[in-house]
Amino acid sequence: MVATLDKRSLGGQHFLQIPGPTNVPERVLRAIAQPTIDHRGPDFAEQTLDLLRHLGPVFGTSGPVVVYPSSGTGAWEAALVNTLSPGDRVLAFETGHFASLWRDMAAKLGLIVDFVPGDWRRGVDPGAVAEHLAADREHSIAAVMVVHNETSTGVTSRIPDIRAAIDGAGHPALLLVDTISSLGSIDYRHEEWGVDVTVSCSQKGLMLPPGLGFNAVSAKALDAAKSARLPTSYWDWEPIVAANEAGYYPYTPPTNLLYGLREALRILDEEGLPNVFARHDRHAEATRAAVRGWGLELLCADEREYSSALTAVLLGPEHDADKIRRLILERFDMSLGTGLGKLAGRVFRIGHLGALSDLTLAGTLCGVQMGLELAGVRIDHGGLRSALEILRAE
Ligand SMILES: Cc1ncc(COP(=O)(O)O)c(C=O)c1O
Repeated sequence: MVATLDKRSLGGQHFLQIPGPTNVPERVLRAIAQPTIDHRGPDFAEQTLDLLRHLGPVFGTSGPVVVYPSSGTGAWEAALVNTLSPGDRVLAFETGHFASLWRDMAAKLGLIVDFVPGDWRRGVDPGAVAEHLAADREHSIAAVMVVHNETSTGVTSRIPDIRAAIDGAGHPALLLVDTISSLGSIDYRHEEWGVDVTVSCSQKGLMLPPGLGFNAVSAKALDAAKSARLPTSYWDWEPIVAANEAGYYPYTPPTNLLYGLREALRILDEEGLPNVFARHDRHAEATRAAVRGWGLELLCADEREYSSALTAVLLGPEHDADKIRRLILERFDMSLGTGLGKLAGRVFRIGHLGALSDLTLAGTLCGVQMGLELAGVRIDHGGLRSALEILRAE
């Protein structure tokens, strides 16, 4: 990477402003660097019990949270194979690239997916949830799959309204929610919002490197798992939940990432989750102020669904968003998120989640503004000032 950098940008730290993996705090890196211990010994058990006690609150659950050595994709698969059977119908929504990938996975696993089309600028419409479930009089839909924060678009779906739509239809479907880019950044409450499986992973709001996948599981989902017939082995919740009771795992766990997770939970606890969410909201607001101030377009079309974790900026057809990203990387040593799937080349994404201070965001927006100017995008220079006013406010 260094070889492609303009010499002027050498020195100082790389700006990793993609919407995950995010910047890993020093404290977490130091925790990960502790010596690996015997995962069948008493110290490990004590640490795991302590970790699991502190993990639930981030999800808003007092129930089990299964931790896998996996990426988020693995945790997606775990949610499906533990709760569903071959030929089950699931309801999913085309909110963007990740919702489409999860749909593809469900279909590959032998599920029948009712995929409600979307324009990648909006979240899940609770009205559409109500409509589809009301039409399913035989209750053949076994689960509703929702991506809480679509990382490809910067759009956050309203889970409480979706839950209300399911309840309003009197439908027994399970609610499976992907919080991969929202957990620890955007308000989320597994239990209070009646979610059955919350899927997440380590490398976004939890400020860890990639490598841990999570399923927070409701009592209803645990019950569904007893009769679900999709094949499970590695992903099977049951032996993991059972081993966790004594502080162990049925396989060799990623001990050092678990050290990191414990430290990340301490950091979140010290700031306080409500303050963490408020910081993300404020950073997102400042970023949107910059984008609007520049005279550019936000991809998210509904202000009720603005993401506090990232902002996707839509460029006109005369610009190649990836060329601009490359220029910003080479000249200012900053990585921004690329346009995914059908948004390739049209969108760039500014990640503002995880460990991020006001000044880091100011530097990020400064780099974006300079990059846009150098790329010849006609912008209003007041964009950055509008963002700084929000960051500076008492
Ligand atoms: C919303 C969402 N779901 C799923 C995934 C897939 O996770 P992973 O790449 O860790 O497998 C991602 C990755 O960025 C994501 O943002």
